[in-house]
Amino acid sequence: MLQIAIVNGPNLNLLGVREPHIYGNQSFDQYVAGLKERFPQVQIHTYQSNVEGELINYLHSCMGKMQGIVLNAGAYTHTSIAIADAVSAIGIPVVEVHISNVLAREDYRKTSFIADKCVGSISGLGMEGYALAVRYFTDKFEH
Ligand code: DQA
Repeated sequence: MLQIAIVNGPNLNLLGVREPHIYGNQSFDQYVAGLKERFPQVQIHTYQSNVEGELINYLHSCMGKMQGIVLNAGAYTHTSIAIADAVSAIGIPVVEVHISNVLAREDYRKTSFIADKCVGSISGLGMEGYALAVRYFTDKFEH
């Protein structure tokens, strides 16, 4: 079975509560429950941390276990060379996801340290960006 990890960084534990005009009203747990029903052929693992080093440790732990990673690194996207290095180090394809359109927001969100280490990026399509990233991996590995 295809093993995919969805990794969420800081403040994404507050989805559904946090700035709903930007990030929507749905909690991530609610969203993932639906996602698992839509992709019964995929084992979807989820991990969230507000701590940079914990995210890095989790990415390392994916080596040899996950075939693809969907990563929303939150604000660490714009600051963390260490997470970018982890993406490069693990040798697993990573798709970067942002719920909001980071290019349409503050200038400091326009830089991503991880984008060029990823196979691609999805931004601004809401929570559905996670599903599109999983769909990328099912297309890639199931054909
Ligand atoms: C985010 C965009 C980031 O700029 C922000 O810091 C987040 C969420 C998004 O999913 O749109 O925490 O990654």
